[in-house]
Amino acid sequence: MSEMNAEGRSRLDQTPEWNALAKHREELGEVHLRKLFADDSSRAERYALSVGDLYVDYSKHLVTDETLRLLRELAAATGVAGLRDAMFRGEKINTTEGRAVLHTALRAPESAVVESDGVNVIPAVHAVLMKMQVFADRVRSGGWKGHTGKPIKNVVNIGIGGSDLGPAMAYEALRAYTARDMTFRFVSNVDGADLHEAVRDLDPAETLFVIASKTFTTIETITNATSARNWLLTGLRAGEEAVAKHFVALSTNEEKVAEFGIDTANMFEFWDWVGGRYSYDSAIGLSLMLAIGPDHFREMLAGFHLVDEHFRCAPPEENVPLLLGLLGIWYGNFHDAQSHAVLPYSHYLSKFAAYLQQLDMESNGKSVDRDGNPVNWQTGPVVWGTPGTNGQHAYYQLIHQGTKLIPADLIGFAKPVDDLLPGLVGQHDLLMANLFAQGQALAFGKTPEEVAAEGVPQDLIPHKTFKGNHPTTTILANELTPSVLGQLVALYEHKVFVQGAVWNIDSFDQWGVELGKVLAKRVEPALTAGDEVPGLDASTAALVARYRSLRGR
Ligand code: F6P
Repeated sequence: MSEMNAEGRSRLDQTPEWNALAKHREELGEVHLRKLFADDSSRAERYALSVGDLYVDYSKHLVTDETLRLLRELAAATGVAGLRDAMFRGEKINTTEGRAVLHTALRAPESAVVESDGVNVIPAVHAVLMKMQVFADRVRSGGWKGHTGKPIKNVVNIGIGGSDLGPAMAYEALRAYTARDMTFRFVSNVDGADLHEAVRDLDPAETLFVIASKTFTTIETITNATSARNWLLTGLRAGEEAVAKHFVALSTNEEKVAEFGIDTANMFEFWDWVGGRYSYDSAIGLSLMLAIGPDHFREMLAGFHLVDEHFRCAPPEENVPLLLGLLGIWYGNFHDAQSHAVLPYSHYLSKFAAYLQQLDMESNGKSVDRDGNPVNWQTGPVVWGTPGTNGQHAYYQLIHQGTKLIPADLIGFAKPVDDLLPGLVGQHDLLMANLFAQGQALAFGKTPEEVAAEGVPQDLIPHKTFKGNHPTTTILANELTPSVLGQLVALYEHKVFVQGAVWNIDSFDQWGVELGKVLAKRVEPALTAGDEVPGLDASTAALVARYRSLRGR
């Protein structure tokens, strides 16, 4: 990290680069995208970048060349490139946990050398990949038999957070590539209904449980895994010996896996330098590999790697994750935007925003800097979204005509992924027409004059006016392939990195999830056994009492 950054820590909002941006923001005022486009006929062409298969149009942003220059200066002054290089080198940039941050090593080629604590991690990464591949091939080909000798037809992934959202999202995204003769389910919630619905129509003799937990101590996962084991053994009328054929573990914690009763030969390992929300291309992706097969999984990893290399090597002017990160800073810190919408025009990306919520909000939802000082600036946004066109008939009204500024990403593909139903009536063109129309409507709106020219009565003109000037990035690719999915996810990972680096926060810890976990453990005996919970506040105590009485306790 540069001297300047070390010095400037926790005073980000007093640096010359920050002040220059604040001043520039004032000067720009409410300049309209209509004017920015009118003034520059080459804007659409100039404000677009490509990385791999992704074409990224950022012309519909409230920025000028000067804005972009000043944002890049902020990135330079806050040492983004230095921290990026330190991450790729395996330095312990997750300072509050004393860990390296090396998810990029998970998708590096076998020839790469990436060291953590002086040890090259690449051979171990590829050994686990190969172990996953051999296992996936055996299961998919019917070679792996369950306790009664039947092949596996159903895979149930049990995990939560990063041990669920990544594989579940990618499974949906790549459905067209999955083994359609197998059933895949993802269970995360400690609400027993989740597991119940996932297994109720499955034959235990044909079911494999993949227990995914980095720590192997997460209460939701261990509880669901225990219930799943009961369901399996009861269904098979078998003893513990059946577990080995129906349970595998994905974890960093061999001891806890063994304690649970899973044969550690059936454990797929990863390492503490893989953050939970950055883990689905580690062993945590086993369920996904079982679904799409090892070759597609490796294609996905290559997509990740392509964007890693771009992020590491591309100059600032062409660096897409850097640009997207800085645009988010422009809106969050200089326009008071509170949220960021991710709007994929692909039904297969139905879980993409939910996945990004953990990636972004668990990474950058922080209010102290790396040294523990309170930050005076907004950090991570609320990330949300659902696939187009559904959102258009729900909340787009607020984006178009509400009072909030909501920058959005519109993501679309030139070709539909699969041989979809033969009877589809040009639906993909209609889908994409909606994406392009929304980008246009959000940016340029409709003036009162245009509304009046349509003969709209005077009193309705304000209601039918669209102010426009709502910024969007459009990400367009040819097709949603495994590689393109990897590229997209890596793009967002590095965007989140850039923002955390500028804000000088630790994007790789997650202390904010701890308190609730501890309190839940404390409250549970009060619900079940009526134990006194020391220090329980009056509101929670009353709720606990009411709950107990409703349960007849
Ligand atoms: O929610 C906190 C968290 O630690 C996440 O960061 C993580 O992805 C999730 O819990 C699951 O953790 P584990 O994989 O250890 O079960």
